[in-house]
Amino acid sequence: MDSNLMKRAAGIAACNWVKDGMAVGLGTGSTVSHTVVELGRLISDEGLSIVGVPTSIATRDLALSVGVPLVGLSDVEILDLVIDGTDEFDPSFSLIKGGGGALTREKIVAQRSRAMLVVADETKQVQVLGTFPLPVEVLPFAWEVTMSRLSEICPGKVKLRGASQPFVTDNGGYIIDCDYQGVISNPKLLESEILCVSGVVEVGLFCGICDAVVMAGGKGVETLLKENGRIV
Ligand code: A5P
Repeated sequence: MDSNLMKRAAGIAACNWVKDGMAVGLGTGSTVSHTVVELGRLISDEGLSIVGVPTSIATRDLALSVGVPLVGLSDVEILDLVIDGTDEFDPSFSLIKGGGGALTREKIVAQRSRAMLVVADETKQVQVLGTFPLPVEVLPFAWEVTMSRLSEICPGKVKLRGASQPFVTDNGGYIIDCDYQGVISNPKLLESEILCVSGVVEVGLFCGICDAVVMAGGKGVETLLKENGRIV
């Protein structure tokens, strides 16, 4: 199966976890965009009744275009579920996210959810996080200083995202991609270390948040459930 077909299969299969009356966080990226489109179809064809909270402007626009009703995160007490993509996930369900630059809103929404379901193709499954460059959102103010501090705690190169112009997030921030050369041995510790650097808004490490991964691969779609997770 090619990668886009796998993303589509995972994205659509995740909708089985969405039930009537739920408030659902809608992640960002090419995999979860299939989930959003399928939710729109379930709403119009099968009368599913949900509200969504988008994690980016792109997802907001997509959701509105396919008829998913949206509310603000502060309008709901808690979300029943967030469905989002990932760039890598490890056996303990820690994630690297932010390939699309939406990591800050994604983490805010995920932390406000009763459970997190990730949609992925099998290329995202790794034994150890760190091959995908770790995205860190930073304030534009003196970003060079923040980047230099980040380079002191990163064994590989750190790079401002963007070619001739910096990539600007939905929050007006910049992204610094940090090359951990294939090994983040303690994701939770690294998350706290990076968050201590002034100028850092958020880091794309999600530890202890993801409960299950709907993964599509050559053998079809399977759901990997975290032991003692919030999805059973
Ligand atoms: C967005 O900022 C990211 O966290 C995405 O969820 C992640 O990059 C996965 O994207 P794809 O589904 O497009 O691979």
